[in-house]
Amino acid sequence: MASMNKPNQSTLLTDLTPYIYGTTRLGDDKIPFSERIKMARTAMETGVWFHASNQYNNAHQVLRAAFDEDRTKIPKLIVKLEGNSISELHKDLHNNLEPLGLENLEIGQLCLGTGELARDFANGGECYWEFVRIKAEGLVNRFVLEVFPWTSGTALQALKAGYPEGVVDGYIYYLNPLQRFASNELWELLNERKEAQIALRTVAGGPVHWLRDVPGVAWKEYLQKRAVKIAPIFERSGVENWTEFCVRFAFSFENIRATVGATSHAENLNEFLNASKHIQPLPTGIIDEITRLQYRWSDETDMHAEAWTM
Ligand SMILES: NC(=O)c1ccc[n+]([C@@H]2O[C@H](COP(=O)([O-])OP(=O)(O)OC[C@H]3O[C@@H](n4cnc5c(N)ncnc54)[C@H](OP(=O)(O)O)[C@@H]3O)[C@@H](O)[C@H]2O)c1
Repeated sequence: MASMNKPNQSTLLTDLTPYIYGTTRLGDDKIPFSERIKMARTAMETGVWFHASNQYNNAHQVLRAAFDEDRTKIPKLIVKLEGNSISELHKDLHNNLEPLGLENLEIGQLCLGTGELARDFANGGECYWEFVRIKAEGLVNRFVLEVFPWTSGTALQALKAGYPEGVVDGYIYYLNPLQRFASNELWELLNERKEAQIALRTVAGGPVHWLRDVPGVAWKEYLQKRAVKIAPIFERSGVENWTEFCVRFAFSFENIRATVGATSHAENLNEFLNASKHIQPLPTGIIDEITRLQYRWSDETDMHAEAWTM
């Protein structure tokens, strides 16, 4: 992509709302469909961006129904696009646009997996021209690359060679006090280059004391163990609630543009919104302490995990 104009990274993704409504809970069929539409409408009224995927059970159906009630309030969307090849990715793009009743996505999240397409991306292959074509066709305005510990190598290789410049506008990965799913080396490079970044899973799945103490809240044992380490840091901080602590945590890193959190309750949505109003970074001492833990967790656990197991 050497012919692309070099963008100024600090101007990328500056129009996101700091809190983005994650839509996984809209796919929970234990909650009546009508209540989920109501929740989606409540979030739409606030003007925040949404993050969506056709993998969240029937969340797209809920969104479509909510959008059709008032199409003037359709939020800007980040939508996951999956594929092991460019044709699979194209197919998934249409499999998202059609159910949502949309012709265009504001941001497509490139979920390239670990196969052919990921290798092409790492090696500066044809996929970049396809992404440019998708933009030129008006189907997607911008792209962000999804990163996990087991795909950090792909991003690292591509970034070092400068391939994504001008095509990929930012990077999206789990970032909350219990998880930082870009490898240590990738994370350093992203920050050194001031790449725009989006944090996923604002509250790590729920309040830290629930994650620590209530069986089943932490979906994996490692999260419960991390909650044991993080809970006393949160308590010492004096911050009023876990949501605020987590939003402030994400925004303690200068290249974070937004954090994506989910809820099926209006009061929890309010907590996300209140925490996102006048965001103050956490004190440096707290950030240093958590960053040290995350470096260790990445080296000792995350980078050895089998793909998609954590
Ligand atoms: N690979 C990817 O792209 C990827 C992967 C994971 C997540 N995501 C995105 O990120 C979003 C958030 O991820 P996530 O749902 O895994 O993590 P999360 O936002 O950290 O946690 C959401 C969970 O926390 C609960 N919660 C939120 N606020 C609460 C509060 N104040 N008190 C008690 N419980 C509270 C919610 O339950 P209630 O419904 O009861 O409020 C929900 O079960 C997803 O919706 C999705 O859009 C993307």
